[in-house]
Amino acid sequence: MSLPYDHGGNVFTAARMLGVSPADMTDFSASINPLGISLLVRKALIRSLDNLVHYPDSSQRELKQALAHYHNLSPENFAVANGSTELIYNLPAMLPGKKALIISPSFSEYVRALNQHHWQIQHFILTPESNFSIDTGQLELALAGGINVLYLCNPGNPNGSLHSRQTVEQVYELCLAAGVFMVLDEAFMDFCEEASSKHFVAQSENAIVLRSMTKFFGIPGLRLGYAIGDATLTEQLDAMGGPWSVNTLAQAAGSAALQDSAHNRLTLEFIRRERSDLIQKLEQFPQLRVYPSSVNYLLVEIKEGLTAGELRERLLQQRILIRDCSSFMGLTKRFFRIAIRTGQENRRLLECLRGILKQE
Ligand SMILES: Cc1ncc(COP(=O)(O)O)c(C=O)c1O
Repeated sequence: MSLPYDHGGNVFTAARMLGVSPADMTDFSASINPLGISLLVRKALIRSLDNLVHYPDSSQRELKQALAHYHNLSPENFAVANGSTELIYNLPAMLPGKKALIISPSFSEYVRALNQHHWQIQHFILTPESNFSIDTGQLELALAGGINVLYLCNPGNPNGSLHSRQTVEQVYELCLAAGVFMVLDEAFMDFCEEASSKHFVAQSENAIVLRSMTKFFGIPGLRLGYAIGDATLTEQLDAMGGPWSVNTLAQAAGSAALQDSAHNRLTLEFIRRERSDLIQKLEQFPQLRVYPSSVNYLLVEIKEGLTAGELRERLLQQRILIRDCSSFMGLTKRFFRIAIRTGQENRRLLECLRGILKQE
């Protein structure tokens, strides 16, 4: 049974194919906060329903103020969008040049968006053997090949590992020296905020940070993302989305979510605890290798036997979705990614894995 997009989170399609309700599926393929939306967000959404008779606030004033407060930056440093995917699709038309280098494996939408604008694309592959670390000497050589834009995702997706701020700064310096613009995707950085490069990027005309609010804050169905950058860049990006790309409910939910520090702290503690528990249990399977993670998902390699595609099929029959990572540049057909979910859901996944891997 094959799903149409090489993405996580195809829960509606998978449920339709199995003839069950989406509520009967357990989705480990999209990496979304398992605690769901906070009570403050729920209340803000309900309060905003009456405002749906008006156009959204095209200046996104309250949301940008909440962002400025959350990040200790100023509202002009933000462009907001209908999910960070909208920014990914708008950027290629705004950026100078036609040749991009993507540090891979990474999020597949960069390629799709660049292809729409006929960019030439090269990949700089990070290997599992090096724990997806960047050889900056090699990168310097690659940037010298007429590259105009570099895409770096930190923490990495699907690998979950974090490049230190020093490393990112080093990469940025290489970009500056080579005249290359840096797109730094920090979609999952809320899970390890202290490592963000937002403060130096906000001062630069040569880089932009992309952030998603759909993962940590648990609203992929509502859509909300933003860019952090110098005011000239954010103004340009804002204009590209048109006046109303961020709807009233998303603006209200976003502002409330950023201010709900109790729920955000709880999320961090919950993920840290469940992640270490899940890693420890997965490491007991001799067939599996688990890669280090700073976020709410894990990259796992099957050392022998099943492919990730076969494992995905078997788990799908038990209404569990995982992300087969064989379509990612630089990974083999034996890699899969799973989100960290609640203790009960994680235990169910482990039980199903036990059943499947025992037969191998
Ligand atoms: C690395 C990365 N960047 C960006 C996105 C886009 O997120 P959204 O459009 O939901 O904000 C995703 C979604 O999975 C992602 O994994």
